Amino acid sequence: MTRPEPGQAPPRIAARRIGKSFATPVLRDVDLEIPAGCIHGLVGENGAGKSTLAKIIVGLERADTGSLALDGRPYRPITAAESRNAGVALCAQELSLVDDLSIAENILLYTSTSAFKRIRRRSAHEKAARALVAIGLDAGPEVRVSRLSLAEKQLVEIARALATNPRLLVLDEPTSALTAPQSDRLHAILRAEARRGVTVIYISHRLRDVLTICDRVSVLRDGQVRLTESAGALREETLIREMAGADADFDAGRRSIEGTRPVHLRVGKLRSAALPHPISFDCRRGEILGLAGLAGSGRTELLNAILCLDRRTGGSVTIRTASGATEIRNPRHAIRCGIGYVAEDRARDGIFRDRDLAFNVTIAGLGRVADRTGRVVRARETAAVSKLTADLGVTSTGIDQSIRELSGGNQQRLMLARWLHCKSRLLLLDEPTRGVDVAAKLAIHEELVRLRDSGVAVVAVSLRPDPGVVEPEARRRVSPRHVAPGGHPGGGVQ
Ligand SMILES: Nc1ncnc2c1ncn2[C@@H]1O[C@H](COP(=O)(O)OP(=O)(O)OP(=O)(O)O)[C@@H](O)[C@H]1O
Ligand SMILES: [Mg+2]
Repeated sequence: MTRPEPGQAPPRIAARRIGKSFATPVLRDVDLEIPAGCIHGLVGENGAGKSTLAKIIVGLERADTGSLALDGRPYRPITAAESRNAGVALCAQELSLVDDLSIAENILLYTSTSAFKRIRRRSAHEKAARALVAIGLDAGPEVRVSRLSLAEKQLVEIARALATNPRLLVLDEPTSALTAPQSDRLHAILRAEARRGVTVIYISHRLRDVLTICDRVSVLRDGQVRLTESAGALREETLIREMAGADADFDAGRRSIEGTRPVHLRVGKLRSAALPHPISFDCRRGEILGLAGLAGSGRTELLNAILCLDRRTGGSVTIRTASGATEIRNPRHAIRCGIGYVAEDRARDGIFRDRDLAFNVTIAGLGRVADRTGRVVRARETAAVSKLTADLGVTSTGIDQSIRELSGGNQQRLMLARWLHCKSRLLLLDEPTRGVDVAAKLAIHEELVRLRDSGVAVVAVSLRPDPGVVEPEARRRVSPRHVAPGGHPGGGVQ
């Protein structure tokens, strides 16, 4: 840490030789100095230690070594409330809202610092309403958080952090569920906050966003800061190289589909409460079908209706199985028919937080690692899970590590591993690469292409068209709002 020149303001936050180990070292001698009014990007591969550093800064984790200073004063937060009182706010990667409370109550939980302060409901609602308007969320303060979509929850998480009027705002993957216009709005807010002197630490895998919004960027690799540079002097390729420590290859093997393959999934005039207009399309074997559309256009709801997670109000969904075309009757039946589903909100609908990796991977296909009496054979489980985690490059201390100890991106890889374990013949993927780093995104894309080539059908929802996910020849896009009512236009909706 360099001493400020006389008359020069000290950095807003200064980290000096921060070290942290869990089973193995996660952060090693991290030095970082960020001045007031600066938007500082923090990038690195999954498991690089970004969230751990963010948690140390807001008092959710304790560093083993090193020190922090806030505006030149020693700063050692022991709890999140303490850091909030010091003017430091976190917008967490794994959202920390209380689902059963309203938006206003969630915001109030953070902004009311004293337990003895009388809660004034009206002023709380006004405060929340202002925060929601600023962030562009079209929901009343009294709405329960459990009723919101993942993108809306992410906006509330951000609004809540902003409502504390922080001088240091730490955003961990704030846009991972947001659409481009929602992200743009957030970025405009961050710029305005920075002009007022607020310092922002911006953690993201969206490197283009990082270079656009940030003044300076640091790369973390293996728990160390490998590079800190002004964003204007950096290019995406440089960041990727520094993150991986080697040249990354972006060519995910593009190939066209030869001939016509049999239809594997047929969705006919499907409707549910959330999908008032009937939707029809086919997905063939060996095909990746991209589902595009704005947030709220019904992409997630379409997958839910296919799986019978939402009650259908009309139409049919048939899938080809060994015994011919079969109508999907309920979610359990869908799995039995070889459908795998990666939900958008892994924290709520995907992971079993208190269980280990092995459980989280095998749970949907226990029969594959059990003996005839139904008992899990440990050797089989170890072999299956070890292979899948190695194939998908999951970083962990072993298959018995608790999943909640894994970084967000590594948890996401396991969601796919679960269905690879089941050898699903149709994958319904809702934002399958949310929060994963560039290398993992590539690994997942390659895995999807490999699955496609082996005849698996894939329907993938993606907020942001990403040319790497689905190769142009194989890509057909269905936008639920724009699907013509009724009809099977040829082999799918174009
Ligand atoms: N509570 C914990 N117990 C054990 N290990 C942990 C714990 N929290 C984090 N780790 C480990 O520390 C490493 C860094 O995790 P961290 O969440 O900081 O990564 P990250 O850079 O934020 O990754 P991502 O991009 O996937 O979010 C990972 O290997 C993770 O498994
Ligand atoms: Mg993280």
